[in-house]
Amino acid sequence: MNLIILGPPGAGKGTQAQSLERDRGFIQLSTGDMLRAAVGEGTEVGQKAKAIMDRGELVPDDVMVQIISDKLDEIGDQQFILDGFPRTQGQAEALDTLLAQKKKALSFVIELKIDDAILVERVVGRFTCGNCGEGYHDTFKLPAQEGKCDRCGGTEFKRRSDDNEEAMRARLVAYHGLTAPLIDYYAGKAILKSVDGAAAFDAVTGQIAAILDEN
Ligand code: AP5
Repeated sequence: MNLIILGPPGAGKGTQAQSLERDRGFIQLSTGDMLRAAVGEGTEVGQKAKAIMDRGELVPDDVMVQIISDKLDEIGDQQFILDGFPRTQGQAEALDTLLAQKKKALSFVIELKIDDAILVERVVGRFTCGNCGEGYHDTFKLPAQEGKCDRCGGTEFKRRSDDNEEAMRARLVAYHGLTAPLIDYYAGKAILKSVDGAAAFDAVTGQIAAILDEN
């Protein structure tokens, strides 16, 4: 089973993808994480992407399609969940071509439906473990023991440079203009499933689990 998780910035894509990776053996393919790793390593892609990401705009399609193509080869036959890709009509069509070439198929596109009003608070309060990447939130999800990651025990945490109100406004414009039209694209292929992304963590996880278990 292969999935896409689709939704605006801060909708909970990464949170739910991590949970699916942990509980059901999916490989999470987060293009945002891949780009941030490239920025951290100072690669050519990372150097070009950094300013674009900080402005809240999208990295060019050809760069993203190559990154995903390489990752799909790397993971072989393992089941995957795409988090943050595709984000444009061009990326969605390129993905169709790549999957056909690589003899893979999508099972579902899970859309996290949520109002913009909730998203800014979610994104501005977000932080992650600097060691294992586990996600947290100042209000909604603090580590059980203050200053210590629940998953790996790490004590260093970090915040993203695009998690501020100005970049977030641009990210929402990019989402509504370029990514939201993919909801109709996948509805047209009859693989779209929508869940309430504004519900509590476990409730969202439960809605996704119900979809996977029914099918
Ligand atoms: P990316 O890293 O993909 O960011 P994004 O889409 O903006 O999504 P986020 O990671 O911000 O949010 P999320 O939905 O994963 O939410 P999360 O689970 O963390 O992309 C970053 C940038 O890279 C882009 O702007 C672009 O420049 C570039 N890029 C990436 N992919 C690209 C592509 N394909 N093409 C072109 N450019 C690309 O949750 C957010 C917070 O809310 C967390 O703190 C979490 O704890 C909390 N939370 C989650 N669920 C709940 C809940 N149910 N209740 C309460 N709190 C919750």
